[in-house]
Amino acid sequence: MKIVTTTLGVITLAVLALLAVMYTGAFNIATAWEDPALLRWVLVTTRESSIERRAQTVQAPDLDVTNRINNGFHRYREACALCHTPPGGKLSPLAKGLNPEPPDLSKGEDVMSDAEVFWVLKNGIRMTGMPAWSPAYSDQELWDIVAFLKALPDLGTEGYRALDSKWPPGRK
Ligand code: HEC
Repeated sequence: MKIVTTTLGVITLAVLALLAVMYTGAFNIATAWEDPALLRWVLVTTRESSIERRAQTVQAPDLDVTNRINNGFHRYREACALCHTPPGGKLSPLAKGLNPEPPDLSKGEDVMSDAEVFWVLKNGIRMTGMPAWSPAYSDQELWDIVAFLKALPDLGTEGYRALDSKWPPGRK
């Protein structure tokens, strides 16, 4: 019986503490505030586990298909380059203000599987500024972007600039 009373007491205190944080404004909601290491660890671990679990049912198609990289470049150029700095580019004013900062996807440091990248593109990452792209693009287009991102580190600045020189589509 004592253990039940103690447990209920602890739960009540935890709920009261949470409500106090919510209603007193004690938590700093500012983007410009650098996350303390503990909060950062909680957020990153939660994000990684969530993406890993949800991407398990995603089946990657053949990404080695002509035109996928080119189509993916067009989507990346119109929708991603403003936040995810392209090779040889500079962090945009928008990207500078985001917390967490959007990673440079051209460095090949991404350890995510193709299925995980697809899941992230389709669904976005809550509370980070990374949008969900499923309202804008079909699954086919999202896989094109995944194929482009896989090729991006090997393209380098020169390869990327060669594609960019023909942007927007139709430019002579
Ligand atoms: C408004 C800014 C913004 C735009 C536009 C944007 N992203 Fe992001 N993206 C982010 C941020 C911020 C993160 C970091 C999230 C985090 O650290 O949890 C992110 C994370 C990612 C990740 C996960 C990388 C990793 O290692 O965790 C991928 C992949 C990605 N974005 C791809 C894209 C693609 C492809 C597009 C375009 C279709 C795009 N993003 C457009 C802001 C943006």
